[in-house]
Amino acid sequence: MSAACPAILPGHLRGLRRTTGSVRVRYFRCNATDDLLARRGSVYESIYQDMDRDVGLEIAEKSHKDAPRVPGDGWFYGELSWEGMYDLISLAQPEEGDVFLDMGSGLGKMVLSTAMTRCFKECRGVEILPELAQKASAALERLAQELDPEEFASLPRISLVEGDMFGADVSDADIVYCFATCLTAEVLQGFIWKVEAEMKSGARLLIISKQVESDYFDPWIVPYKSVEQAHSKWNLDCFLYVHK
Ligand SMILES: C[S@@+](CC[C@H](N)C(=O)[O-])C[C@H]1O[C@@H](n2cnc3c(N)ncnc32)[C@H](O)[C@@H]1O
Repeated sequence: MSAACPAILPGHLRGLRRTTGSVRVRYFRCNATDDLLARRGSVYESIYQDMDRDVGLEIAEKSHKDAPRVPGDGWFYGELSWEGMYDLISLAQPEEGDVFLDMGSGLGKMVLSTAMTRCFKECRGVEILPELAQKASAALERLAQELDPEEFASLPRISLVEGDMFGADVSDADIVYCFATCLTAEVLQGFIWKVEAEMKSGARLLIISKQVESDYFDPWIVPYKSVEQAHSKWNLDCFLYVHK
């Protein structure tokens, strides 16, 4: 694998090019080229072919019934479309070497789609429901099988773990994402205290359905995006912030 250093390329060509044995992986300012996006989109479809949103919701509902781990409807499973995820992350202006973290990563779709389309250093997710976390790990295994080994090795480091997001390390993350639609007010407040205290300066917080009023965050350059869900014609609100 070789990576052209963006710093030595003219501004309009700046980006990352990774060349593996048989597959050329191209990024432009950490965004995938159209060709890469289309190719990886097909792989994404394939690895999640039997894990659509309704399957995720069913698994989450049963898991919560068997052993409740979060208050209220915090277990409720939802996801964005492939395009919705890609467009949203673009707004956060990711850069080569960034770290991405999904707090409540469900089936791992946001983590894997981001890892498949960006030149991040690492993409991580933490999910409290074991059954969803297991499916996320299975999807990661499928991704490893679907891609040529060298192409898989060229992806960012990927980690999808079972656990409580309140125990997750957010200190090195450049982009923190939380699909917070169904979090209770108390959980949301705890989440805000955590990211206020632990996120680094300049890191972006992308949060679905909730607005954050905090002395520690400013609205990001693009402070709002209406985002497309995978399973519904209803878009959701996403609010974007930057840690001061
Ligand atoms: C709406 S889903 C979003 C899934 C994923 N982030 C995505 O965008 O595709 C929210 C997820 O957060 C998880 N969750 C809720 N509270 C959590 C907590 N305290 N720690 C970790 N995960 C949590 C839920 O179980 C659920 O899978």
